[in-house]
Amino acid sequence: MIWVRNFRSMHFIMNKEVKFPNFTLKSLKKLPNFLMKNTLIVFGTRKGTTERTAQVIGEMLVLRFSHEVRMVNVRNIRKFRKILHTYDNIIIGSSIVNGKWVCRALRFLKKYDFSDQKLAIFITAGSTLNKVVELGIPKEKVVKEAIVNYIDNEIKTIPVKPVSKMAFGGMIKRPNRKKFNSWKREDIESWVMKLGKLLD
Ligand SMILES: Cc1cc2nc3c(=O)[nH]c(=O)nc-3n(C[C@H](O)[C@H](O)[C@H](O)COP(=O)(O)O)c2cc1C
Repeated sequence: MIWVRNFRSMHFIMNKEVKFPNFTLKSLKKLPNFLMKNTLIVFGTRKGTTERTAQVIGEMLVLRFSHEVRMVNVRNIRKFRKILHTYDNIIIGSSIVNGKWVCRALRFLKKYDFSDQKLAIFITAGSTLNKVVELGIPKEKVVKEAIVNYIDNEIKTIPVKPVSKMAFGGMIKRPNRKKFNSWKREDIESWVMKLGKLLD
């Protein structure tokens, strides 16, 4: 779990008014923790790949975009219920198994109102992304297929407008199944470099 404490969280704890001096754009860049974006990454996983992906996203947002990041397994989301509105950004990720999201992750998306926040969605669609490795189908085509099948189809009845959606690879390591590994750290890093700008 990553939790970078800063003045912003202190502000919430102390419940005091923060006065914003007249910063120039240049000084804003160097400055202050209390202007950092506050991002919650909620993930639903079965075997841990989606957590690993969430971890990379979190690290990148902290290191490259100076976000304050908290990660939570969707199983433990109850603890965050009352403070969800305090996050500027919500990123939700789910693993895809037999064409389905982790139930709680989809329930989370349906249950809460994210209209005042920036929302991003990612999935771990291991076998779909494996088509790039195994069949040599272009990655853009495969990613698009996964997004349409597993994200767009699922959210079409929910009033959410994600700023970004992405499908990542995954893995199967179990001995009685056909093994593969289509998880690539660089795919995640390159998404976060675009996402970070959309969330800033
Ligand atoms: C039983 C089973 C069914 C799967 N079904 C799909 C699927 O329908 N589509 C897909 O893209 N990947 C599928 N996968 C691959 C998973 O997305 C991959 O194993 C991923 O790493 C799981 O993420 P997790 O470890 O976060 O649960 C399946 C994997 C298993 C073991």
